[in-house]
Amino acid sequence: MKFSLNVDHVATLRNARGENQPDPITYALMAEQSGVDGIVVHLREDRRHVSDRDLRLLRELITTKLDLEMAAEKSIIHIACETQPELATLVPEKRQELTTEGGLNVLDNLEKIKTTIHELHEANIPVSLFIESDINQIDASLDVGADFIEIHTGKYANAPTEEDMLEELEKIKTAAKHAKRIGLGVNAGHGLNYINIKEFINVEEIDEVSIGQAVIARSVFVGVEQAVKEMIYLINQKK
Ligand code: PXP
Repeated sequence: MKFSLNVDHVATLRNARGENQPDPITYALMAEQSGVDGIVVHLREDRRHVSDRDLRLLRELITTKLDLEMAAEKSIIHIACETQPELATLVPEKRQELTTEGGLNVLDNLEKIKTTIHELHEANIPVSLFIESDINQIDASLDVGADFIEIHTGKYANAPTEEDMLEELEKIKTAAKHAKRIGLGVNAGHGLNYINIKEFINVEEIDEVSIGQAVIARSVFVGVEQAVKEMIYLINQKK
């Protein structure tokens, strides 16, 4: 299982003071040195964390791969085509939300998503759709031409009891198996941390996890290198 690091919240912290530090580019480069397989950023329409400049600099400087999370909106699609990330992950975006709260509803937005995927494919950018672990959404993702899905792990991460958590994990396993069977690549993320990753890594079909908040938070206490290496260690403990 690979591990891509989302550095959005390094930018959130920088933006809190409107100054230059902490710099998400430096953070991303340090994380690469510590072994992450890729860097993820979400260029939101309101630019609340990374900026266009951050994206340009990341594109120039990182040596692993860039996963650009984005809404299916014209101006952002244009930036994505120019930036040429190794992967574009389409996510729903509401201005009021604290973070990306739910998965994309592919079934209700077939044409819009299909057109967006087509435009990104024309620019040779593979596309992933951030969806819930729902078989119908997975089938719709294949129908609209997605290459990957990213399973939203928020319900697993925020489950109130262990029983609920294991139930969510079963749903994720079933969804991941189905997606793999029909030929989609499978990523996963949202709310994964140093505790809940331990069960999660046994979902065989997941190619890559995308983690941000937990690793950035831990790095405040132990530094970037150790926070990244601890997560890599846990991911590699697969039974
Ligand atoms: N994947 C997607 C599509 C996301 O929107 C986010 C949150 O920015 C993440 C993964 C990472 O979530 P977290 O910061 O909770 O690890």
